[in-house]
Amino acid sequence: MKNITIIYWSGTGNTEAMAMGVMEGAKSEGTDVKIINVSDAKSEDVLNADAVALGCPSMGSEQLEESEMEPFVESISHEISGKRLVLFGSYGWGNGEWMTDWQERMESYGANLVDEGLIINNAPDDEGIERCKELGKLLAKV
Ligand SMILES: Cc1cc2nc3c(=O)[nH]c(=O)nc-3n(C[C@H](O)[C@H](O)[C@H](O)COP(=O)(O)O)c2cc1C
Repeated sequence: MKNITIIYWSGTGNTEAMAMGVMEGAKSEGTDVKIINVSDAKSEDVLNADAVALGCPSMGSEQLEESEMEPFVESISHEISGKRLVLFGSYGWGNGEWMTDWQERMESYGANLVDEGLIINNAPDDEGIERCKELGKLLAKV
């Protein structure tokens, strides 16, 4: 069975809710899904997965959360090469620049981004959760 690992950081639960939607979508395709808070994640979790989803809200000033997510993303720069990947996260008042930057960065590491990064303003509503599920399904395919 194909296995997917979802690794996320979330301060107030919005990106976590998105992660749950991605998980539900991936599971509905019959994949084995592991969901990990980044504080517990190791680079092997990425290495051993067939496909990976990473979630982080826009923090700082259009940046990844700096104490846990930022160093983790740096630490997987070699493990992620050639791997199917999707990115997602919640934002507040910005224009999504953090996600554009993050996508470019993961592409520079050689990741195989299977879709545009999914960004949702604040808490995901029902339609937002549906979009997260679709992202999980897409990641699970192929
Ligand atoms: C310290 C801090 C910095 C933030 N910086 C940005 C930002 O630069 N751009 C933006 O759109 N939202 C920013 N936000 C808003 C968060 O991205 C938004 O509240 C998001 O829903 C939080 O997701 P979470 O519940 O998964 O933590 C910031 C929030 C905090 C607490």
